[in-house]
Amino acid sequence: MTSRPLANPAPAALADRAEFERAALEGLSRAPRAIPAKFLYDARGSQLFDQICELPEYYLTRTETRILHDCAPRIAELTGPGRALVEFGSGSSVKSRLLLDAMTDLAVYAPIDISREHLDATADKLRRDYPGLRVEPVCGDYMAIDTLPDSVPDARRLGFFPGSTIGNLTPDEAKAFLLRARRLLGDDGALVLGVDLRKDPALLHAAYNDSAGITAAFTLNLLRRMNRELDATFDLSGFAHEAFYNEEEGRIEIYFRSLRSQTAMVAGWRFMFAQGERVHTEYSYKYDIRTFAALVDGAGFRVGHTWIDDESLFAVHYLVAESKVD
Ligand code: AVJ
Repeated sequence: MTSRPLANPAPAALADRAEFERAALEGLSRAPRAIPAKFLYDARGSQLFDQICELPEYYLTRTETRILHDCAPRIAELTGPGRALVEFGSGSSVKSRLLLDAMTDLAVYAPIDISREHLDATADKLRRDYPGLRVEPVCGDYMAIDTLPDSVPDARRLGFFPGSTIGNLTPDEAKAFLLRARRLLGDDGALVLGVDLRKDPALLHAAYNDSAGITAAFTLNLLRRMNRELDATFDLSGFAHEAFYNEEEGRIEIYFRSLRSQTAMVAGWRFMFAQGERVHTEYSYKYDIRTFAALVDGAGFRVGHTWIDDESLFAVHYLVAESKVD
């Protein structure tokens, strides 16, 4: 960790703050209120999310890891040698290691992530652990990126988007992401993507309402972050985490809810919260195989292969670029 005097933050941190302020003010001024999920991931939020991944109720991470472990050799076979592996939102590249272990003849591994520090630290570790591997990190927002820099050599591309992160997006946003990925990966591209499956609502409910209260802390951390970064005055004991499964829409919906009538300042603006009023923070869409196949079909891909665990909790799809994109 490097420490930086608070009075002199890095330009990137200033831009982050301005973006957070704009999004928070805009999201709290709208009806219904909502703040984009990406702002959950400050340093503390990222730590809490790592803890969520270890929870007994949160089956997603360990199930996907098991599936990837088992199907990685097959993925290596399907894609063939000399590929560029491009990861969308790589974080610490934990799951990518499962692919890197199986794909011994990659041209390059290009992790895309918004956090420069995270990216460089992870790249250094990977270069140490995989001496023959060329690692070319790309700093940027994988939701907005259109082309890769020249540092990434020309090779057929295999994308990687694990974790059911696509579930945070609405189906329209997911389609837009896939179209963008399709363009970035090219006509001979492929994409390995992890998606949570629809299942018993009780299991889903438990995964987002864990008994240790980590998910609640994760949601309420957004209020803490506003207090810290936007001079907000939220009383954390006045709000609660709320998560439920909307079966009709096939999605978990997550909010923070005001437990009483109250006001709070955010960046110099006063906001009123009625008792019971909630602010949306996340969707987590769940896709059965057929619905997901229909989604990718409209976005320039087809499902080549799908791997599912024995309990049908989670799916890893191997998507192949279709020659025609509409
Ligand atoms: C990172 C979007 C996959 O939806 O399961 C977990 C985020 N939020 N618990 C999910 C999350 C609360 C997670 N994703």
